[in-house]
Amino acid sequence: MSDSILDNFTKDLTVSKGEVGKRKIKVGIIGTGWIAQAHIHEYLKMDDVEIVAGADLVPGKAEEFFRTYGVEGVRCYPSHKEMIDSEKDLDAVSICTYNTQHAGPAIYALEHGINVMLEKPFTVTLDEAIQVMKAEKKSGKILTIGFQPRMSENMQMIQKIVDSGELGKVYYLQAGGGRRRGIPTPYGTTFIQKDTGGVGAVGDIGAYSLDMLLKAVGYPKPLTVTGYTSDYFGKDPAYYPNHPEYASVFGVDDFAAAFVRLEGGIVLDFRISWAMNMDTCGDALILGTKGGLRIPSTDCWNGEFNKPLTVYKQVAGRSVSYQVPLLPPPNAEDGLFYRKLRSFIDAVQIGGKATVPSSEIVYNQAIIDGICRSAACGKEVEITIPEI
Ligand SMILES: NC(=O)c1ccc[n+]([C@@H]2O[C@H](COP(=O)([O-])OP(=O)(O)OC[C@H]3O[C@@H](n4cnc5c(N)ncnc54)[C@H](O)[C@@H]3O)[C@@H](O)[C@H]2O)c1
Repeated sequence: MSDSILDNFTKDLTVSKGEVGKRKIKVGIIGTGWIAQAHIHEYLKMDDVEIVAGADLVPGKAEEFFRTYGVEGVRCYPSHKEMIDSEKDLDAVSICTYNTQHAGPAIYALEHGINVMLEKPFTVTLDEAIQVMKAEKKSGKILTIGFQPRMSENMQMIQKIVDSGELGKVYYLQAGGGRRRGIPTPYGTTFIQKDTGGVGAVGDIGAYSLDMLLKAVGYPKPLTVTGYTSDYFGKDPAYYPNHPEYASVFGVDDFAAAFVRLEGGIVLDFRISWAMNMDTCGDALILGTKGGLRIPSTDCWNGEFNKPLTVYKQVAGRSVSYQVPLLPPPNAEDGLFYRKLRSFIDAVQIGGKATVPSSEIVYNQAIIDGICRSAACGKEVEITIPEI
């Protein structure tokens, strides 16, 4: 067999770079902070993407950002509004703003007929998510939410195992992970202030944790939540030896736990942490009538896992377990972040569907919202998701 035929087998394994000859997609980046670096890094690999505009509330920040990446001719604006009002040819925007500035820019972009890649978490509240979805529906444009762990074949294997029927009927989910010391302040305090972060660990890494399990079981609708949040570490000046002043601006949660009832007779036992006196809240577990699945926790929980999955079964009356080996990580050129943005641009090119649709993530957001509401009132709350 010739090499060229063998090569055909590898073609499906790679993600496109954007075929030459396709139309250039004109992209704007809203918010040029930490995560925008990952967006521009990946967009610059794509032949069919032209970054034409950027915006940031901090004067000069967008200009400096594009200078650092050597991208010339990008028109910079002081906010998403000026950018969208002035740029008439934008096909798409990456919204890389802090959480409380997700809904506003997303709605404004959709109302102006622009496709949206919105960073996670979807929003801060369920109500905001619903408003964004109404704008999405009215616009007919693509809205995809930035959950790059979904692009991992190892992550996809969790759903494949559930779908294969190997676990039988799933009835219990346990969210694990969490960080021992990992309040995200490397680039300042936007994650930890109420007016910018809006929610803490529960929205930041809790959203990943929920997505891992809920996606695997088909995103059942959440019904009720009993939630708890705390902020003992975030509010302690001793937590930040170099920046004790951060404690006084900490206005979100650093730990959350919850018990969630889902449609289909499934319950979810949830816990997440930016900081705690423990190495992990445990592995993530899926219990089914025919088998169980253990998804190993990682040290710095960021929505992925890096050790083999374990399946637990009864075989001929004996308890057995076996491991599902990890697939090798993608190479740097074709990493999860690249795939996330590439799949968005591909959808824009062909008028395709969002890879991470709001119709799923609204349930993720409803749980986060429910945990916060329940924690505030100290009792179980019902989740009602209005018709869009
Ligand atoms: N997918 C991932 O792996 C990942 C990783 C880190 C952060 N994030 C998400 O990305 C988002 C941004 O995080 P970050 O760490 O880059 O924050 P950041 O604070 O470093 O950057 C956000 C920037 O947005 C700007 N901004 C806010 N509102 C704006 C508006 N209306 N118009 C223009 N600019 C505006 C701010 O001035 C700031 O420079 C958060 O929602 C976070 O959860 C995702």
